[in-house]
Amino acid sequence: MRVLITGAHGQVGNELMRCAPAGFEVVGLGSAELDIANTNQVAEVVARIQPQLIINAAAYTAVDKAESDAARAFAVNRDGVANLACAAERLTIPLLHISTDYVFAGDAAEPYRESDSTGPTGVYGASKLAGEQALAEHCSRHLILRTSWVFGVHGNNFVKTMLRLGRERDELSVVADQHGGPTSARSIAVALWQLTQLYVQRGELTWGVYHFSGLPACSWHGFAEEIFQQAHEQGLIARVPNVHRIRTEDYPTPARRPQWSVLDCSRLSSMFGIAIPDWRIELADLLGELTQTH
Ligand SMILES: NC(=O)c1ccc[n+]([C@@H]2O[C@H](COP(=O)([O-])OP(=O)(O)OC[C@H]3O[C@@H](n4cnc5c(N)ncnc54)[C@H](OP(=O)(O)O)[C@@H]3O)[C@@H](O)[C@H]2O)c1
Repeated sequence: MRVLITGAHGQVGNELMRCAPAGFEVVGLGSAELDIANTNQVAEVVARIQPQLIINAAAYTAVDKAESDAARAFAVNRDGVANLACAAERLTIPLLHISTDYVFAGDAAEPYRESDSTGPTGVYGASKLAGEQALAEHCSRHLILRTSWVFGVHGNNFVKTMLRLGRERDELSVVADQHGGPTSARSIAVALWQLTQLYVQRGELTWGVYHFSGLPACSWHGFAEEIFQQAHEQGLIARVPNVHRIRTEDYPTPARRPQWSVLDCSRLSSMFGIAIPDWRIELADLLGELTQTH
């Protein structure tokens, strides 16, 4: 089966390329080869490659920059997804897509379920929600995996920022009143390949929206403390810095972050038997990988 992966050089895209199971012919394209916002290019490239399934890992992910760059955020996250959705529908193939906890307002007290009302608070979240809607409108075989707090070996992410700060400083302050589920790019890629394999076996899937993020839920502060503890144990930092708890208003950013980003992932595991990863184990694996290249 030939699978087209867009955004192949991003955090998740890279892992999708690295952990492709045997038996798949994988064509991974970065933004230089395929700009998903370019309608003609998407139609032409998809028609030429003739994939039997598309996984979209391309997105405009600069959350703060999106506040002053809404046109580009929507061009990629809404119109780009619509372009892929139309191309997939023309070939009657499925499109697996990644979305975000930022589609929610973040004011809940229980983990968000797929059926809960959305209400993005910023441009990035609004553009991703518009992409979900465009996908549902234009492509009948679509699966949307909403995830959160992605970390991995490629690209910039919270783990890498903390490792750099942990080498430079004895103390730092991290927001303690936002809660979510850290999720490794590797685990997202593995879940997407499991879904692809299930589709191949069954010839169908129950399409729609699913949540997938790491357990247990924590705050950014709790995430940082675990990173430093494990990094110290693995010899990546000389000492564990003091991590002070601060509130969201002490760390102002152009885009408002959801206070509560915790996703209920039970639908995905009960429907497809996909295990929800413990992010602390995923973190240990990542740090182990970084130790080898350190
Ligand atoms: N990162 C997170 O914490 C997080 C949280 C929740 C959900 N997500 C979602 O997870 C998915 C993967 O995110 P990620 O963390 O892997 O992001 P990432 O590392 O920023 O990768 C996104 C990739 O998309 C590419 N891209 C941007 N515009 C494009 C375009 N017009 N056409 C084709 N490719 C384009 C980028 O390439 P260039 O660099 O060349 O532009 C980049 O390689 C996204 O859908 C994102 O919204 C991420």
